[in-house]
Amino acid sequence: MILSESQWQKKNKAIIITGANGNVGSYFARQYLELGENLILFIHEQEHRILEIKQNYPDKVKVVRSDLNNLEKLEEDLFKIVNKANWQPDRLIHTATIHSHDFQPLVDTDPELWKEIINVNLVGTFNVLKCVLPYFKKNQYGKIVLFASNVTRIGLPNGSAYSASKAGIANIGRTLAAEEAESNIIINTVSPGPIKIDDSHFSESYRIFRKQYYKEKIREIPLKRCASFDDLFGLCKFLLSKENSYITGEEFFITGGKL
Ligand SMILES: NC(=O)c1ccc[n+]([C@@H]2O[C@H](COP(=O)([O-])OP(=O)(O)OC[C@H]3O[C@@H](n4cnc5c(N)ncnc54)[C@H](OP(=O)(O)O)[C@@H]3O)[C@@H](O)[C@H]2O)c1
Repeated sequence: MILSESQWQKKNKAIIITGANGNVGSYFARQYLELGENLILFIHEQEHRILEIKQNYPDKVKVVRSDLNNLEKLEEDLFKIVNKANWQPDRLIHTATIHSHDFQPLVDTDPELWKEIINVNLVGTFNVLKCVLPYFKKNQYGKIVLFASNVTRIGLPNGSAYSASKAGIANIGRTLAAEEAESNIIINTVSPGPIKIDDSHFSESYRIFRKQYYKEKIREIPLKRCASFDDLFGLCKFLLSKENSYITGEEFFITGGKL
């Protein structure tokens, strides 16, 4: 079968999704598979949410299991997959995160816990970008969406490490947009408020924290509900599409009207 130029391009391009077993990452993976995209899924320990798609789309899905803090392994694993599949990654959606679990004012926070959150969320973001950017630069094309949170503008009492790490991510986005514009790389940050998710995988203490926190937050949201996965996907799909050739370095708040 002879492929048209656009079919050939789609055949070899791939989207990298980090946190691909997570709520948002696994939903995005399913949506992009329905659109016919090749996916490189970065996962950590769990894989229950992507088992079905791994089985159903063996030729379209490649999985990297790695801790974002291990830059060397990330680089090696990605290199092997890209070469074996003969794919060219050209888009990145970075959702991986650990959630706030200090639950203490900064003054009472365990320094090790604080560093752990910064290491996964902020140093991990550095590592993902350090590992993926060379592919985009080589092809002089790339589109990136980083996930932060609306805590970048409202803070998070009893969650200073998480809020600091997310603010750092948004500023990495702004910085890279300027650094990599000449390589035709576009990067934006999406900062949701509460998202309607399955929270069964969280620790009991985090679920209790989250339930109480979101109960209060939803009262303040003009649209009176959490964001759905589709609310997020619509924006990300546009930001990563060919139609977006000029919007870069921005942070988009998906908060149902809450400023
Ligand atoms: N959910 C919300 O209400 C909400 C609100 C605002 C912003 N956000 C942001 O939206 C994004 C997606 O959220 P979500 O609800 O989909 O999160 P999620 O379900 O908790 O998924 C996060 C993923 O990150 C992975 N991860 C954790 N530590 C890692 C590490 N060291 N190395 C590699 N991967 C690691 C987890 O894998 P394991 O489970 O295997 O460790 C998990 O699959 C996040 O960036 C989050 O901060 C979410």
